[in-house]
Amino acid sequence: MITGASEGIGAACAHALRERGARLALVARSEAKLRAVAGSDDLAVPADLTKAKDRERAVHNAISHFGHIDILINNAGAGLYAPSWQAPMDEVRRMYELNFFAPLEMIHLVVPGMRARREGMIVNVASIAGKVTLPWLTLYSASKYALGSLTDGLRMELRRDGIHTITVCPGYVSTAFQDHVLSGQPPEHVRRTKMFKITPERCARDIVKGMERRARTIVTPASGWAFVILERLFPNWIDRRLEDIYFRGLKTS
Ligand SMILES: NC(=O)c1ccc[n+]([C@@H]2O[C@H](COP(=O)([O-])OP(=O)(O)OC[C@H]3O[C@@H](n4cnc5c(N)ncnc54)[C@H](OP(=O)(O)O)[C@@H]3O)[C@@H](O)[C@H]2O)c1
Repeated sequence: MITGASEGIGAACAHALRERGARLALVARSEAKLRAVAGSDDLAVPADLTKAKDRERAVHNAISHFGHIDILINNAGAGLYAPSWQAPMDEVRRMYELNFFAPLEMIHLVVPGMRARREGMIVNVASIAGKVTLPWLTLYSASKYALGSLTDGLRMELRRDGIHTITVCPGYVSTAFQDHVLSGQPPEHVRRTKMFKITPERCARDIVKGMERRARTIVTPASGWAFVILERLFPNWIDRRLEDIYFRGLKTS
């Protein structure tokens, strides 16, 4: 089951996994876009993942159709560009519903079946912003840190049940993500950046490869690890560089 499969990274994952022979349950709100992505053996389940009834229906339909769910890819998510000290709280809560609570509640729905079969995989699509806080995306970063921490904890909780969990941390992927943000716009410098920018197809390839080797964390592109390691070793220096990018962008936009 792939959430957020109607476009972007989720749709690219659907194509890559179908090539490997997977049968897919694809979830997103837009039925028309889902149908365009779905192959003849796939199940398209239009659903708003921030609604409990929709989540339950999506999982129920997939299990009725396929018998069980082997792998859950929690990919649906959205951004929010705003200084955290003045962010619109309704939008912040909406973002957390989608980026954190929806994946957690999907996990609640699929784990009992996986535990009963003593196998399963949960792939949570976080972000490089969930490894290094980006000041133009502070609250989004916080939601992705939360998702990464959840994924690490689940791995320890569920290893004995044969269930593996993976955090995916993409850098910039050329999707419509920036057009779909819940509030605000990135500074112009950030919008134009090419740093770590990859296609959704490349991102999906890295995700599938990571799933095959049962990785713990997938950073895509792998060069993003350098950014993560630099931040761990020289946090003040990285803070200053990110501040420079943020405030330079604010002045010119
Ligand atoms: N693009 C990047 O640079 C980047 C970098 C790091 C991490 N990520 C993460 O990667 C994931 C995918 O991002 P993307 O770039 O592919 O974004 P995208 O192109 O905007 O796609 C988002 C997907 O989520 C679905 N979605 C949004 N709200 C939903 C809801 N309430 N219920 C069900 N589905 C919903 C959308 O479909 P509908 O509109 O049809 O519902 C769409 O399929 C996100 O978690 C994002 O945070 C992206």
